[in-house]
Amino acid sequence: MSYQSNDYPIRPIKELEKPLKKLVDRANVARRNAYAPYSQYLVGAALIDSRGKIFTGCNVENASYPAGLCAERTAIVKMVSEGGKKIKEIVLVGSSAEPVFPCGMCLQVIQEFGQGCRVTSVDPKGKVFRQVPLRDLFPFGFTPDKLDQ
Ligand code: THU
Repeated sequence: MSYQSNDYPIRPIKELEKPLKKLVDRANVARRNAYAPYSQYLVGAALIDSRGKIFTGCNVENASYPAGLCAERTAIVKMVSEGGKKIKEIVLVGSSAEPVFPCGMCLQVIQEFGQGCRVTSVDPKGKVFRQVPLRDLFPFGFTPDKLDQ
């Protein structure tokens, strides 16, 4: 089974579930702190964990480009370092006109802590969103059980 981008349409923000709107607000606040002097591409992320705690992140670039960190991984590292184990929902706000989804490395890290979660992305103007289950964004990710086989 393969998915078409039409299976997950871009929808007006008014259709977004209310609890996720709070995460969008938090992601936008974090996005203002994005340190992106090299790409000028600002990203903010916010997640809620299984305990109901919210963690936010922004991208943090570096003069040594590969040392830069994406907003999603910043938020996840903050969650784990504060005792969180499970992502329930994760939201990001990028800088492209249309909602964007996490890079491959972030998908791998989201999967480690968020099997079964959805990824919701909002455009920078806050007018539209797109929501895709992680398993459809990343169907063949490397999961911890593979290490036992
Ligand atoms: N970036 C993120 O933080 N999250 C994404 O989902 C896509 C890309 C960052 C990495 C880099 O700092 C900048 O955006 C341009 O790639």
